[in-house]
Amino acid sequence: MPVNVLIIGSGGREHALAWKLKQSPLAGRIFAAPGSEGMKDCARPVPAGALEFDKIADFCAGSDIGLCVIGPEEPLAKGLADHLSAKGVKVFGPRRQAAMLEASKQLAKEFMKRNYIPTAGFQSFYDPRPAKEAVRANENWPLVVKADGLAAGKGVRICHDEASALAAIEDFMEKRVFGSSGARVVIEEFLSGREASVMALCDGKDFVMLPVARDHKRLLDGDEGPNTGGMGAVAPVDLDAETLENIRVNILGRFVEGLKKERIPYCGVIFAGLMLTKDGPKALEFNVRFGDPETQTVLPLIKSDLLGHMLACAESRLAGERAEFHDGACATVVMAAAGYPESPVTGAEIRGLDRVPADAEVFHAGTVSDGGRFKVSGGRVLGVSARGANLASALALAYKAVSAITFDGVQYRRDIGSTIREAEAK
Ligand SMILES: Nc1ncnc2c1ncn2[C@@H]1O[C@H](COP(=O)(O)OP(=O)(O)O)[C@@H](O)[C@H]1O
Ligand SMILES: [Mg+2]
Repeated sequence: MPVNVLIIGSGGREHALAWKLKQSPLAGRIFAAPGSEGMKDCARPVPAGALEFDKIADFCAGSDIGLCVIGPEEPLAKGLADHLSAKGVKVFGPRRQAAMLEASKQLAKEFMKRNYIPTAGFQSFYDPRPAKEAVRANENWPLVVKADGLAAGKGVRICHDEASALAAIEDFMEKRVFGSSGARVVIEEFLSGREASVMALCDGKDFVMLPVARDHKRLLDGDEGPNTGGMGAVAPVDLDAETLENIRVNILGRFVEGLKKERIPYCGVIFAGLMLTKDGPKALEFNVRFGDPETQTVLPLIKSDLLGHMLACAESRLAGERAEFHDGACATVVMAAAGYPESPVTGAEIRGLDRVPADAEVFHAGTVSDGGRFKVSGGRVLGVSARGANLASALALAYKAVSAITFDGVQYRRDIGSTIREAEAK
């Protein structure tokens, strides 16, 4: 029996999921809520927003959905997986309780500490006064100040001196620039090293680790300019066997052991943000869903059947699954709108999509179709991915495809895949 799949979300990550799942021999019809015109070849759009839980549940019941895959964090943190599971829908995506490990940095740090997951030393605060006292008493700079809740990637500040750390506490806790997300803060030890991220599929008991990726968060070449949602990514990252094993056992393995010990059910992706320090890899954070743009980079490297693996997760039988990966590497270059990230300019017509070579994939993130022509509708517009025998050839293919596409004011980095400088005083 073919399995009908509903993907929740409408970005590049969801387009990549639809593209991959459509290739599965198990796949029936693929839908996306709300989806987009740009991903229509892979998934039929459904008129329901990611937070319209009842509409989504009704659609699942009416269209014989055999698996619902939830992309973004917000519906997870608000309990979409709980809502659908209660109605008998199979879901790939964790329930609210587990989603709090992403939605609260304080809960996440305490979970890491209890479960001996290597991470930066930290203190958490519910009140600005003791938080400021801790800052005044601090001797090692920089210091990292984090708003506890979801803040769209803007709730973390690397502070080089007392004044900036005090200002961060004031902004988060007193001025509430991120609303209730700043009710609590975590103050962390600064770690230096190179960053990487790893995703694993998990059924709550076992996990399958995917190739380690590295994204590029800054807007401009050479890691300059403001932070963005991600301007590109590559995988796999060149790591020695010992480091890989360390990530598998001490970070992902202990995370899953912790879930079991604390009786937290989990079905979905574990995404660990890593700092590769001279004392080994340490976890910066855990996300409970696929990364964007890492998904656009990592899914093309999966050779085995992703839908089969996801169904195995939803049916708690991941231990019997064998994942296989392609040799070589994959690279993704993000094409962003003029003015991104502060104030993206929308409306520009996108030209050249029909000239993209067949050995690259274009994933739509911020586009709308206007009478068959695509226009820019968001900050990150397209993600262009290509797989090659090695990183250099993957990058060459991705950039060749990028050069076929144009729109007014397009911004993209020319140095995706080049080794980024270590986290340091920026
Ligand atoms: N303890 C730390 N030491 C050094 N850099 C850090 C530390 N914590 C976070 N960062 C930097 O800040 C970024 C964002 O932090 P993270 O915890 O991943 O929060 P989020 O992704 O929710 O904004 C990281 O990718 C990293 O560059
Ligand atoms: Mg992060």
